[in-house]
Amino acid sequence: EKGGYDYFMLKEIAEQPKAVADTLLGRIGADGQLTLDEVRIPDSVLREIDKIVIIACGTSFHAGLIAKYAIEHWTRIPCEVEVASEFRYRDPILDQQTLVVAISQSGESMDTLMALRHAREQGAKVLAICNTNGSTIPRESDAVLYTHAGPEVAVASTKAFLTQLVACYLVALYLGQVRGTKWGDEITEVIRQLADMPQQVERVLDTMEPVRELARSLADARSVLFLGRHVGYPVALEGALKLKELAYMHAEGFAAGELKHGPIALIEEGLPVVVVVPSPRGRSVLHDKIVSNIQEIRARGARTIVVAEEGDEAVVPFADHLVRIPRTPVLLQPLVATVPLQVFACELATAKGHEVDQPRNLAKSVTVE
Ligand code: M6R
Repeated sequence: EKGGYDYFMLKEIAEQPKAVADTLLGRIGADGQLTLDEVRIPDSVLREIDKIVIIACGTSFHAGLIAKYAIEHWTRIPCEVEVASEFRYRDPILDQQTLVVAISQSGESMDTLMALRHAREQGAKVLAICNTNGSTIPRESDAVLYTHAGPEVAVASTKAFLTQLVACYLVALYLGQVRGTKWGDEITEVIRQLADMPQQVERVLDTMEPVRELARSLADARSVLFLGRHVGYPVALEGALKLKELAYMHAEGFAAGELKHGPIALIEEGLPVVVVVPSPRGRSVLHDKIVSNIQEIRARGARTIVVAEEGDEAVVPFADHLVRIPRTPVLLQPLVATVPLQVFACELATAKGHEVDQPRNLAKSVTVE
């Protein structure tokens, strides 16, 4: 049932192009417009929404962090993202014009369920993004957008994460479409490029051998840091989480701009630091800033592992290891940038002899608070 792979995780990483394609299937019309018929919240209600709050845990929370960038950019609706376990205890401000988006692969995470119950009690509408048909979270929500990743068996989430991103982009673009924003043309263009993402993910998977080799060479590292900016920041958090879960190593993700506010003190000779570089096109200020960050850490001895777009030559002189990813629209980059980090963590954990499908102390779905 592992389809010839040694671990479910490897199989699920490999299934990502199909999972992304399946999650897009039937949702982009021939006219290039989105149709999310299953989201049974009327467009008239969606037009009145004045705040979006995303609640989720773990990897699903990282998808939510990325969604915030897309939602705020394409809809101009303020969006907050919070770990579900913190949400209801701070007496959050919610009303009928708040759309709460609960993201959960399993649909059974107790923290997320309790947070969504709290949100509904306050009168908010809840939209679930979920991978498990008929599970508790979608049953208790006003509407659900299913991710079509297929069953995810490995404890570490991979293909579910990519499909959560797709679902979040669809929600953001759909809201933009329904409400009409100045980004109309960009929205049409991104919908078109979203349809191309399965091939882009496939291309990343085809070039992973050097990443595996690098991961094996780092099996004895004490710690790995991950840096990113903009949507690359949550990608860095996700890369670090994968490494903690699978390799039982100290790993931490930072917003690259925060380095000089403290974490740069951690940099020492030989410390591996993975840097997710934003596209030099689009918001290029960010690109230039991260290139400076890479120089700063390298000057202090870091071993830089740079994940950068094809054609980005500015990073080459400062990269000890360069991982190329295809060009994508800025906001869609996490769909390709996350994949090498999954492969990296999986391979490093395997090199350490760990059971990657069943990491110690973890369960696939966390049904206690
Ligand atoms: O099923 P859920 O998406 O609600 O699960 C949330 C987290 O427990 C989950 O993403 C966890 O962090 C994974 N093990 C990450 O790989």
